[in-house]
Amino acid sequence: MKVLVAGAGGMLGREVTAACHARRHDVVALARPALDITDPAAVERAISDYDPDVVINCAGFTDVDGAEDDEAGAMRVNDEGAALLASAAAAIGAKIVYISSDYVFDGSGQRPYVESDIPAPRSAYGRSKQAGETSVGVANPRHFIVRSSWLYGVGGKNFVETMLRLGSEQHEVLVVSDQIGCPTYTRHLGEALAGLVEDEEFGIHHIAGTGSCSWYEFAQEIFDQAGLECRVMAATTEMLARKAPRPRYSVLGTERRDPIALPTWRRGLAAYLAERTLEAAA
Ligand SMILES: NC(=O)c1ccc[n+]([C@@H]2O[C@H](COP(=O)([O-])OP(=O)(O)OC[C@H]3O[C@@H](n4cnc5c(N)ncnc54)[C@H](OP(=O)(O)O)[C@@H]3O)[C@@H](O)[C@H]2O)c1
Repeated sequence: MKVLVAGAGGMLGREVTAACHARRHDVVALARPALDITDPAAVERAISDYDPDVVINCAGFTDVDGAEDDEAGAMRVNDEGAALLASAAAAIGAKIVYISSDYVFDGSGQRPYVESDIPAPRSAYGRSKQAGETSVGVANPRHFIVRSSWLYGVGGKNFVETMLRLGSEQHEVLVVSDQIGCPTYTRHLGEALAGLVEDEEFGIHHIAGTGSCSWYEFAQEIFDQAGLECRVMAATTEMLARKAPRPRYSVLGTERRDPIALPTWRRGLAAYLAERTLEAAA
């Protein structure tokens, strides 16, 4: 199966590319300089040059706070660019994968969000992802909309890296304890996506690390597993005053009969820390 990965230079894009190679797919991995998904001519050219069976769109405007000041910029990539790619794929009968986010939900729920729950994003980033979901769905019937959350992995700015840095520089950190979600290792998500595209289970999929925690609990687990002596102090969302509002509860569950289950978030973290150690030794 020929797979074109857009946004292949990003944190998830790299893992998706590696996982597709591991499954012996014929992979065309295009980072932003090779394919800007907001450029209609470049999108047309890439699709006609490579003629893929499936396009996995890992490109995204991912600066959640920055999107509050540049909603048009977020829309350009997360909605308009995503739609261009989805419709170019549709024109040749190729499947499309769009990576969406738990931030499409408002976070007022009391139980894990399932695929049929109604999005109600609170942030510009969340609105751009919801718009992208709709546009991709309209542009290409052979779509997988994969909502995931709290990603961390090799080659990206992420919470685990921030905590490891702070934990080695200072004795205590302040972390929010009133936002609950599902930390997800990009390697585990990448492997799931590489398998998902082989089938025709189109529609929305919730795929995230199994289990849930607050950022506070996640930070404690990071220090425990990494063997760092750093005290975690609980803060409220209000205390840390970020520009973009975040959902308080955005745990992703699934109502699919045969869902792809990822390892627990604690096992995801252990796998990531082991990978970092290997990379440092190489
Ligand atoms: N990170 C999370 O916690 C999270 C959670 C749920 C869903 N997601 C979604 O997962 C996807 C992958 O995110 P990630 O965490 O891997 O983020 P990332 O590391 O920021 O990767 C995003 C990639 O997209 C590229 N990109 C931006 N604009 C582009 C354009 N116009 N054309 C082509 N490429 C473009 C970026 O390139 P430059 O670096 O050169 O700008 C970057 O390489 C995104 O759709 C994101 O919304 C992320």
